[in-house]
Order: sequence, then C-alpha cells, then structure tokens
Amino acid sequence: MSKTETNTEMQGRAELAVVIMAAGKGTRLKSKRPKVLHEIGGKPLLGHVIAAASQVVAPADIHVIIGHEAERVRSTVASSGVKFVEQIEQRGTGHAIQCAASAVQGYKNILVLSGDVPLIRAETIRQVRQFHQAQQAAMTILSAVPEDATGYGRILRRAPESPEVEAIVEQKSLTPEQATVREINSGIYAFQTAPLLAHISNLTAENAHKELYLTDMARLLRAAGERVVVTEAPVAAEILGANTIAELVALDATLRANTASRLMAAGVTIFRPETCVIDAEVEIAQDTVIEPFVQLLGKTRIGTECRIRSYSVIESCTLGDGILVRQGCILSESTVADGAKIGPFAHVRPGSELGEDVHVGNFVETKKARLGKGAKANHLTYLGDAEIGEGTNIGAGTITCNYDGVHKHITKIGRNVFVGSDTTLVAPIEVGDGAYIGAASCITKEVPADALAVGRARQVTKEGWAIARRGQQKKGEQAT
Ligand code: UD1
Ligand code: CA
Repeated sequence: MSKTETNTEMQGRAELAVVIMAAGKGTRLKSKRPKVLHEIGGKPLLGHVIAAASQVVAPADIHVIIGHEAERVRSTVASSGVKFVEQIEQRGTGHAIQCAASAVQGYKNILVLSGDVPLIRAETIRQVRQFHQAQQAAMTILSAVPEDATGYGRILRRAPESPEVEAIVEQKSLTPEQATVREINSGIYAFQTAPLLAHISNLTAENAHKELYLTDMARLLRAAGERVVVTEAPVAAEILGANTIAELVALDATLRANTASRLMAAGVTIFRPETCVIDAEVEIAQDTVIEPFVQLLGKTRIGTECRIRSYSVIESCTLGDGILVRQGCILSESTVADGAKIGPFAHVRPGSELGEDVHVGNFVETKKARLGKGAKANHLTYLGDAEIGEGTNIGAGTITCNYDGVHKHITKIGRNVFVGSDTTLVAPIEVGDGAYIGAASCITKEVPADALAVGRARQVTKEGWAIARRGQQKKGEQAT
C-alpha cells in the first residue's frame, strides 16, 4: 500500500470515496421490507456492506444512496457514521450514481458497491482499488465465475486473456452466443471520478428495463477511448447478490458456515455446525463446546471452557468462563459470570446479571435480577426486578411479586438468606442478611437481618375427621 493510500484511510477525503447503491425496492424479494434491510447472519445486507467498506475508508467517505423507504434505511444504519445521498425516483443503477455526482466530485476515485452484495470482503475491495490504480483505468470491474451465471450481467473482454473490457451485457439483452459467457459482473466497480462524471450523462434507457444502467459505462468509456478493465474475485461466493428470498437464504447459510469455520479454527468445538444458528458478530473463546441445534445471536460473547447444550438460544449476552448452559435455555441481553450453571429450561430475560457460580435451575425465570456469587434458585421460580446477595438460597416455587398492575417494584434480598419453598415476596420489600423465611410464606413486610419470618396460615389438624366423614357416606360413594 502506498503512502498516499494510507493517508487517505487515515484522514478521509480526496483520494477515494465509497458509494453504496441501496435505493432499490427489491421487487423480486416480494417483501414489504426494503431489500437492503433484509438480514443474513442476523444483520441487514447493507450493514455487512458498510462494515466491509469501513475497513477500507473512513465512514465519512462512504456515501449510501437511499430512495425506497429512505428514512427506514437511513435510521437503521445511521450509527455507522456514513453519509447519505437521496435518489428520489429509482431509475436504475446509472441514475443512482448520477444522483451521487455532487457528493463525490471532490474525490479522485470512487469505489461503487451494491447494497445487496453482502459477502464482499475488505481484502477484495482493496484488490479492486489496487488493480484500478495499477492499471490506471477509468473503470475497473470486479468479476467472478460462479457455477450459475443466470441473472447477472456478463463481461465481454476484448480478448480472452486481456483485462480490457468491451462491454457488460445484462441478462435480458444477451445474444445466444453471449449467454455462454460465464464471467459475470459483480456490481462492484472502481471509477476515476473525472471521466465517469464527464460521460455519465450520456447513459440512455433504451434497454429491456427502460432504466439507466451503470453497466453501460463500460461501453461508453471504451467508446471515448478510456481504459476499462476487469479483475476477478478470488472467491466467487463473495460477490453473489440477494435478489430473491431463496438467494438470501443461501447467502445466510454461506455466511453462517463461514462464521462456524472461523470459530472452529480458533479452537471452539461446534458439533453438527450445520444445525446451529450463529450470527456473524458472535465471539467465542477456545475450548468452549457448542452442541447441536444451538442458536447464538446478536453480539453474544462466550468465554473459554463453557458448554452450551442443545436447543438453547442465547441472544446478545456476555458469558464468562467455565459456564454450563444446559438444554433448552433462553438467555437474552444479560451477563453470566464464571462457573455459573443454568437450566435446563431456564429463561434469563434482559437485564439479568448472574454472578460467579450462580445456579439457576429448571423453570426459573429471571428479569432484571442480580444474583450474587454462589446464589442458587434451582427450581420453578420467578425473580423480577430483584437483587439477591451472595450465597443466598431461593427455594423452589419462590415468586417475586414485582408488579402492582401499574408500577414495577424492587425486591432486595441480602447475603446468605434462606428463602423457603413457595415463598411470595410482595415488592417493594427487603430481606436482611442471614434471614430465614419459612416455606409457603407470603412476605409483605421487611425482614431484618438474621430474623426468621413466617407468613402463612396456621395448620389446623382434626384427628379422625376423615373416618367420620366416610362414615356418613352411602355405599358406593366411598373413596377407593
Ligand atoms: C446489477 C447489474 C448486473 C450485475 C448485478 C450484480 C446493472 C444494470 N446490472 O444487476 O450487471 O450482474 O447487479 O449483483 O447495474 N439500486 C439503486 N437505485 C436504482 C436501482 C438499483 O440504488 O435505481 C441499487 C439496488 O438497491 C441494489 C443495487 O443498486 O442494491 C443493484 O441493483 P439491482 O436492481 O439489484 O441490480 P441487478 O439486477 O442485480
Ligand atoms: Ca442485485
């Protein structure tokens, strides 16, 4: 990489802008959602393209062309810091770049990416930039030779081994001879800005779609005596587009397979990875084992030597080391510290903080609950808006009554408390350190430290009562 290029990457401006075309509706998806907001690997198509581009230029040098559902697209990716250009009417990819003319005219070169080609890697974008500069071309096209070229524009080279391009022909305009060409246009290009802007107004819509095709710039620039060249992508799969739901699902599978391979290469064991759903941004440390049919979503981070057993779904959580998540647990937007054991069938809802060596067992639900080191809630319990101290034991069937129908209230339980089974804690409520609560209590008043609280009806026992009752019954009604 030359010094100038490095400076461009550091300072933004002047040398290279990235333009991402994302204004189209995506008619072939048959969806109300704009195409570039459809997700693969748990992230919108456009988000993937922006992430790759951001590794090559500063976000301020990335211009996203929006049009169909512009506000929805803008607000979804605004936090990335990119700029936006509006294409009010979508009259084709050539028209999209015409709309970006004033935004990019200060740059020497522009790199054009498609918002619906999401697997493109930063390395390949850099390859296009380097080839473009080395060839001193007015237009450089990224091509590929996929197994099935149907639907893509085809590259017509001037001679078989020459990098020089005569034209790009769209699927609908192919002659039978051109239809045998297997080299396709990826929809990713580099242009020198000056010749591009000098000739782009000459595009016409005399074609099958009655649109202005950016692909026609190859022919126009050639005719003007400019150099138009092609460079092939190292992996054909990374330039595939998502025009239909079937293509989208195929890209999702490719991306997830790549994610699983990356994690396995880093020492994570994923049994039957084809059954697991792992989002693109998930991170897992070495020696952790992921069993079949697990879903790891969002920005989930998992430490070392954990085991995530089958059918668990973990979304946007941070897990420490040595954690066991047994079968069928659902965890979201929560943190779990080292050595905790969860499940089977536990529901850890947003805002839960499970401390070191905590046990949360079967049919236990937590929500905004903080459990201190070594606290245990092993069976059939709801802990909502609760703080539970270190070493406290929550008996089976304990319920925090956190909601009065209008407001949520807090339950605070100290350290080393023993909460007997079937206790109801009516919040707001506090239980001091070392206290005992008798089983089946309904606790409505503060329990001081080291006290015993029992809040239940006294038992009434009537000797012989059952025999007397049975004596009054007629034959045939007796209990068997
Ligand atoms: C385009 C190329 C084709 C190439 C393929 C690769 C053209 C004419 N054809 O076809 O040669 O093989 O990509 O994937 O360019 N867009 C706008 N404004 C518009 C129209 C489209 O921003 O007015 C955006 C879309 O949102 C999309 C991208 O441009 O992200 C590509 O448009 P699309 O309609 O998908 O082009 P393809 O038919 O796939
Ligand atoms: Ca497309």
